[in-house]
Amino acid sequence: MNNFDYDTCPTDLDSDRLPQHVAVIMDGNGRWAKRQGFPRIAGHRQGARTLKNLVHCCKDWGIPALTAYAFSTENWRRPLEEVDFLLVLFERLLRQELAEMDHEGVRISFIGDLSPLPPSLRREIDRAVLATANNQAVHFSVAVNYGSRAELTHACRQIAEQVRQGTLQPEDINEQVIEQHLYTSGTPDPDLLIRSSGELRLSNYLLWQLAYAEFYFTDVFWPDFDRAVFYKALQHYQMRDRRYGTVKLQQSYAG
Ligand code: FPP
Repeated sequence: MNNFDYDTCPTDLDSDRLPQHVAVIMDGNGRWAKRQGFPRIAGHRQGARTLKNLVHCCKDWGIPALTAYAFSTENWRRPLEEVDFLLVLFERLLRQELAEMDHEGVRISFIGDLSPLPPSLRREIDRAVLATANNQAVHFSVAVNYGSRAELTHACRQIAEQVRQGTLQPEDINEQVIEQHLYTSGTPDPDLLIRSSGELRLSNYLLWQLAYAEFYFTDVFWPDFDRAVFYKALQHYQMRDRRYGTVKLQQSYAG
C-alpha cells in the first residue's frame, strides 16, 4: 500500500514512537551519477537536494533531530576537484538555503574539526549557526571533516589536560564527562542510523553515540532517497524491540 502523499507523517506510523534523532550516511552519490552517465559531482548536487528534502520531511513528520555525514576525515583523500567541489557546494548551499531554513525553524549546527576548512566556508558556517541558534522545529546537524576516532581522541586530550591542571581527578572520569567533550555534547544520541547504497559499514561515524541505535540499510542510492524510502525505514524502526541490554519481564527467568 503506497497511496500516501507523504506531506504529513503516514498514519500507520505511531507518532509517539518516532525516532527523536535520525543519523544518515549519505552514500551512493557517485554511483548514482555514473548510472545516469553524469560526472560524480552531479551526484553530490542531487544528494544535497535529497538532504534538504529530508530536513523538511523531519519537520513535517515531527522528527526533531537529523545528523548527516557530509564529509569525513578520510574524504580529503578523494580527487582534489571533488573535494573542492564539495567544499564550494557546502558554502553555496549555506548561503542560498539559510534564509529558508531559518524561516522553517531549523537550527543548524556542525560537528567535526572545522579548523582546516576554507575561511569563507567557516564564515558561512558561523553565520548559519548563529542565525539559527534559537530555532526549535528541527535540529539539523552536519558532520564535516568528522571522524569518530578523531572526535574521541580530541575528547581524551581535553580530559587529560584537565587532569594535568588538577581540575579533574582520574576517578571522576565517567561516561558523562566523556560525553561532555564530544562534538555532539548536549544532543541526545541518535535512535536510528540510516545508510544508503547497500554498504553495511559505519565508516567512523558517531561510534560512541550510536551505541544503542537501530540500524537501517537500504540499497537505494542517496540521491534517490525520498520520503517513501524514509517511511520504510521508519516502519522497520517501529518493528524493532529496543531493550537497551535488558530483558522483557515475560522473557526473564524471574518468577
Ligand atoms: C558519499 O557518496 C557522499 C559524500 C561523501 C558527500 C555527501 C554530501 C552531500 C550529499 C552534500 C550535502 C550538502 C550539505 C550542505 C551538507 P559517494 O561519493 O561516496 O558515492 P559512491 O560510493 O557511489 O562513490
